[in-house]
This record gives sequence, C-alpha cells and structure tokens, in this order.
Amino acid sequence: MIFKNIVMAKNKRRIKIRSLGFYAPEKVLTNLDLEKMVDTSDEWIVTRTGIRKRRIASEEEATSDLAVEASKQALENGRLKVKDIDLIILATSTPDTIFPSTACWAQKGLGTDHVPAFDVSAGCTGFLYGMIMAEGMILNGTVNRILLIGAELLTKVVNWKDRNTCVLFGDAAGAAVIEESDDESGMLSYYWKADGNLGNLLSIPGGGTRMPTSPRTVAQELHYLQMKGNEVFKHAVKRMGEAALESLKLAGLKREDIDHFIPHQANTRIIEATGKRLNIPPEKVYTNIDRYGNVSVASIPISLQELNQERKLKKGNIILMDAFGAGFTWAAVTYRW
Ligand code: UT7
Repeated sequence: MIFKNIVMAKNKRRIKIRSLGFYAPEKVLTNLDLEKMVDTSDEWIVTRTGIRKRRIASEEEATSDLAVEASKQALENGRLKVKDIDLIILATSTPDTIFPSTACWAQKGLGTDHVPAFDVSAGCTGFLYGMIMAEGMILNGTVNRILLIGAELLTKVVNWKDRNTCVLFGDAAGAAVIEESDDESGMLSYYWKADGNLGNLLSIPGGGTRMPTSPRTVAQELHYLQMKGNEVFKHAVKRMGEAALESLKLAGLKREDIDHFIPHQANTRIIEATGKRLNIPPEKVYTNIDRYGNVSVASIPISLQELNQERKLKKGNIILMDAFGAGFTWAAVTYRW
C-alpha cells in the first residue's frame, strides 16, 4: 500500500517553473532620504521593518514597463521567445489603468501576437494565486506554457506625507515561465484562502466604483493606500503560519523537510515570527526586504531568482513559499526544485 502511494506520487502530473527573471528600477531611496521627507528615522524603519532601502520607479515608468523587463529576462533565461508563450497572467494591485488590464499593456510591450492576457488581483498573494491558476490551466490542457508576472508600483499610490505607509514599499516586478514538469520537480501542493470581511484594513478606498474619483476623494486623499499596520501585522503572522502548515501537510511533508522558506517580504518581524512558529531555522529563511522594501507580488519571484542566481537551489530541494496580502488573501505553495 505504501509502495502504491509512492508510485502514485511519482506519477502525479505537476507544473514547474522553467525560468525566472526580475527587474527593479535603478533609483534607490534610502531611509536617510526618507528622514528628509517625513518625521521618521533610519533607526525606527530598520528596527520596526528591517527595510534599509527600496527601488523607486521613474515618473515615466508604469507597472507594465517593469513587468516587460522582468518577463524579457525570464524568457531569455528559459531560452524562449515571446511566441513560445500561450498565456500571460499578471498579478498586481497597482494596474497601469483601471482597464485595460496591465497584462494587456505588458502583452503590447512584449510584442506578442494575440496571446490571451489577464490580471489577477489578490494583493501581495497574487503571484502564488497565479501559480495555482497556472497549475489548473496547464494540467487540464487549456495551455502549455504560461508567463506569470508579479508587478507592483506601490510608490505611485502611497501618500508621501504619511510616515505610517510611505517608508514601507518599493517598486519591482518578477516573472516566471511555467509549464508541465517532466520529472519529479515542481509544485507539490498549495493552500489558498481569502477573507473579504477584513478588506478595509488595507486598501485604496477611492478611485473605484464604490467611491469614484472626484474633487472630494482627492481632497480627502482617498486615492492613496491606507493601512492599519498593526492590525494587518497580527493577521499576517497568523495566516502565513496557517497557510504554510496546511500546504506542507497537503504535500505529505514535515517542517524538517523544508530546505528554503520564502515568505512574502512585508516586515522582518512578520518573517521572523512566522519562521519561529514553523520552527524553521533562520538560515533557511530567505530575506531581501532590507534591499527592496515590500514589493508586494514581486517579492516571492525575486527571492526565488536571487536564490537561484546564488546557486543555492539544488535539485530536489523543498521550497515553501508563503504570502499574505490585501483582501485579505493568503496562500502557500510547496515546491520541489
Ligand atoms: O504586504 C501586505 C501586508 N502588509 C503588512 O504585512 C504590513 C504589516 N504591518 C507592519 O509591518 C507594521 O505594523 C508597521 C511597520 C506598518 C508598523 O509597525 P508597528 O510596530 O505595528 O507600529 P504602529 O503602527 O503600532 O505604530 C507605533 C508608533 C506610532 O506612534 P505612537 O502612536 O505610538 O506615538 C506611529 O505613529 O510608531 C509610529 N510610526 C513611526 N514612527 C517613525 C509609524 N510609522 C513611523 C515611522 N517613523 N515611519
């Protein structure tokens, strides 16, 4: 019986990441720069968040521009041309425009020919939501190869006068080419959830159909990101722990099996608390929040690719990816490299 289960697990069809790429704008904004803009200090930002600097897009750049750069790298790293892609899924909370989708703008930027393209809106969890959707679409035969992008340009929607939020975020994009695995590597399990009851704790209230842009919404600064940070913090720790444990359980693995834990990079204290809760030694927990800040959907693909470039991902390594974001949404993916 045990033997049969092993055989079944071996024969299970799964998706894998063929290649990755990422892009972060050149301009760097340090905590010292921020000290000149709002009532804050390098010491406060480092001790409360772990962030030392972040990348900021130029005035001309929009989310799809970042997405295109990251995608070009992912395609090149996979030795592919854009014509080899069957579908573009782009996760973002900061679209170029309310419509068309940012995926369509990125498709234009990449010069692809009529490839279907759509956005996923799932806050910082969007990249993992996209991976889960990709599994369904590839394994049921809808498409063969997906370009999954996580692109975020939060610095254009933060209020640069609000020290509670403006110190936290950066701009970046990550991209992955996803296809069916032909060996034991790939996505082993996933767990995904949402709770719309808590949406108001992290949102941009104005500019949608609930509160269309008007002189009043602009005067009240409702077009900027608003967050009850300490409330979000508590939910993030709880839900990231839940997602990680459930995903591991579904994969039939234990905490000790994890080689790399890649949490969404929102706050070093959230990352440490989640790592502790899961009993994962700090050396297995990847962090780059000190260099990028919170780049939302881009944080997991960038972390993966940095680990990959540092040659730290070995064939067969178990990677646990874990995210939490606006919605609220939370998800974890267990993956064999
Ligand atoms: O990516 C999606 C999910 N997002 C997150 O997971 C973010 C979760 N939240 C957090 O990371 C943290 O809650 C923050 C970093 C946003 C804030 O840290 P905190 O320890 O929860 O601080 P707080 O909001 O409870 O504020 C504590 C104090 C306040 O002052 P008083 O009222 O105690 O006098 C704030 O006004 O810190 C003050 N403060 C600052 N002081 C200096 C808030 N921001 C700053 C700042 N510089 N930038």
